[in-house]
Amino acid sequence: MPDYELRRFAGPAIFTEQLDGVRVAHLTDQHVGRVTPHEVQIGAVELTNAQEPDIVVLSGDFVCHSQEFLDQLVDVMGRFNAPVFGVLGNHDHWSGSDEVRWALRKGGVEVLDNAWTSIEVKHQRLQVLGLDDAYTGNADIPRALKGLDPRKPTIGLSHIAEEADALWDHGVPMVFSGHTHAGQVTLARLHEFILGRVVGHKYVHGLYGQRGGERPGAVYVGAGIGAAVVPVRLGARGRREVAVFELGAHVGAFEEDHDEQEPAPGRAPSLDLRRRRVLEAQKKSEKRRAVARAKGIDPFAAK
Ligand SMILES: [Fe+2]
Repeated sequence: MPDYELRRFAGPAIFTEQLDGVRVAHLTDQHVGRVTPHEVQIGAVELTNAQEPDIVVLSGDFVCHSQEFLDQLVDVMGRFNAPVFGVLGNHDHWSGSDEVRWALRKGGVEVLDNAWTSIEVKHQRLQVLGLDDAYTGNADIPRALKGLDPRKPTIGLSHIAEEADALWDHGVPMVFSGHTHAGQVTLARLHEFILGRVVGHKYVHGLYGQRGGERPGAVYVGAGIGAAVVPVRLGARGRREVAVFELGAHVGAFEEDHDEQEPAPGRAPSLDLRRRRVLEAQKKSEKRRAVARAKGIDPFAAK
């Protein structure tokens, strides 16, 4: 089996009064496609299933650069043994969000586009909120929160971790994210310099925020499974990973992979940059749809 990190965490603390033994498995940035071998995708699902999670949450970037591998995506998604919830990432919007969403639903994933749902786990109710991708300008927090009961236990999904800050105050104390790939190359913590200072991310990899206290709010940034550009994963933090969260467990009930970390200073993208990213996503998706048509690919025919 390919090599993965399995990281375990408890919390947040507020759930200890609300939930009993709910296990969430989190994977992100699968990037099903040419760069990541199919057996790596399947191995990640098998490792996840072996943890016997009650639910699986996926925080986006299911594809790489094209619509060519949607049948593989359907296959991978269909292998999970628990209910699966997901949100889209920038690569999904760049490659054609309708097509990726269709493949995900075909694979049994409940895609949450600025929406929330409620699931029963072991006779307990858990709300799951999903924010669409902020990088490409598709996140709509007020819409996602509409009708959510902030008194009930809720977890959130957002491809971009920095969106978590705005969810914490509205009854979503735990958010699962991705996008950074933990820098992929993490020798000498160079990734934190590049992603924290150059790209401007506050949350690079792992657990941040507060799981306890009066204003609980935590975010977990997964290192991801696949790769979109650089097929290299070096250093412990950059390894492919599955994270398991025991909701309802006390923080300190078992040994965790690491404690809450301090965020990097971060730098929010300017309005101009955000506008450019929206246009970039439109252009890219049009181009990739045209490529798929030229190659005779029918994305809605994935098996
Ligand atoms: Fe991404």
